[in-house]
Amino acid sequence: MKKLRVIDLLKSTDYNSTTEIKGWVRTKRGNKQVAFIAVNDGSTIHNIQLVVDLANFSEETLKPITTGACIHAKGILVQSQGQGQTVEIQVSEITLLGGADDTFPLQKKGHTLEFLREVAHLRPRTNTFGAVLRIRHNMAFAINKYFNDRGFFYLHTPIITGSDAEGAGEMFRVTTLDPVNPPKNEDGTVNYKEDFFGKSTNLTVSGQLEGELGAMALGRIYTFGPTFRAENSNTPRHLAEFWMIEPEMAFYDIADNMDLAEDFLKYLIQYALDNCKDDLEFLNTMYDKELIARLQSVVGNPFERLTYTAAVEVLKSAKKKFEFPVEWGTDLQKEHENYLVEHFKRPVILTDYPKDIKSFYMKLNEDGKTVRAMDILFPWIGEIIGGSQREENYDKLVARMTQMHVPVEEMWWYLDTRKFGACEHSGFGLGFERLILFVTGMTNIRDVIPFPRAPKNAEF
Ligand code: 4AD
Ligand code: MG
Repeated sequence: MKKLRVIDLLKSTDYNSTTEIKGWVRTKRGNKQVAFIAVNDGSTIHNIQLVVDLANFSEETLKPITTGACIHAKGILVQSQGQGQTVEIQVSEITLLGGADDTFPLQKKGHTLEFLREVAHLRPRTNTFGAVLRIRHNMAFAINKYFNDRGFFYLHTPIITGSDAEGAGEMFRVTTLDPVNPPKNEDGTVNYKEDFFGKSTNLTVSGQLEGELGAMALGRIYTFGPTFRAENSNTPRHLAEFWMIEPEMAFYDIADNMDLAEDFLKYLIQYALDNCKDDLEFLNTMYDKELIARLQSVVGNPFERLTYTAAVEVLKSAKKKFEFPVEWGTDLQKEHENYLVEHFKRPVILTDYPKDIKSFYMKLNEDGKTVRAMDILFPWIGEIIGGSQREENYDKLVARMTQMHVPVEEMWWYLDTRKFGACEHSGFGLGFERLILFVTGMTNIRDVIPFPRAPKNAEF
């Protein structure tokens, strides 16, 4: 027999046919004659209702069928008389597959998100996390589809890296040396020549540099993998382990890069609106009444594009008093990013940042002061995408690396792309969890990844 899921049964009009379902009990209620058991199997936010005539079942059979238990039920699919569902199952046979006693932590509705983080191993069984995780899957699928449909190749860049040159964040060391008694050099420092890779290695902060190598061969690539940053940023928007999507394209300048990024984000949000309707409606009702309207508004309007310098002017003429004063040359703070997005009432793409606050690989503008960077700022989230046109000129790149103390010799392989067949190219990085935050309307990044990694937090 075909294994039917709740999502299939709820769509079925095969009334009065025999059917069966396996899933987890969400609630059990009823009276002396009949029990109503709501069963969910993860396929959808909705439950199927089992109607159990108590005359046909012993108390012994029904007693262990409690919230959290896993059951197998057989019966007849009928049109429902009750409110809130179209079909239900009139049960003829019910089997307990796995019981859950009253220590099961998800007994009542309405647990706080903070509490659910402490039971992250079970929280996927709640409506909220079911919705978030299904949306997360749909977004991952849509990302691969978007790029595949446009001739981009998925490039798997390494997770363990021997370079710490990108400077995107503090790194986690990868080593097999004895932490108590590591081999030492004469000057007392650890001798990483004896380590597994014969050199010091870390977890990657970004796949970009290897991504550029791919773009110089395949034309258009994207990476989509975990990245790691050991900053002590205990904020609702930072994780120590997060997933990043990094497209990299030969023959793209900064304008092409912005067009791609805007189209990509709109595609993903529209994909969620089209394919995650039930889950979005649930989140809209439960957490954020403006969620769906906000998603539609981002899809329906062009993003605002302006230079960093113009943005600084906007901020300086703002009536609002900022905690951090704005000066040309300093990095924008969260409050400034929020102000800009609210001011323009749409996502904002900022370009041409001062070179000193951006990475060495960004292409220097003719003014000698700014680089062809682009950051995309989203409502509430702040920076969702960071990217740039890359410096393809060997001499200019080496000069920037030297000024910014990036080890030139160690980066010989990266510099080779500027020696052999260099060309104009661009790329960007989208923080996957920041996208999921925006699409789900969740407010803490730890609630949009199954098992968050953050300072002092690596349980599960
Ligand atoms: O701006 P970032 O640091 O850019 C890069 O890593 C470039 N190599 C990207 C490129 O051009 N290929 O990071 C890119 C995005 C940010 O805009 C943000 O959305 C996300 O990654 N991000 C984080 N997300 C969660 N937790 C963190 N600690 C994050 N740090 C960055
Ligand atoms: Mg950035």
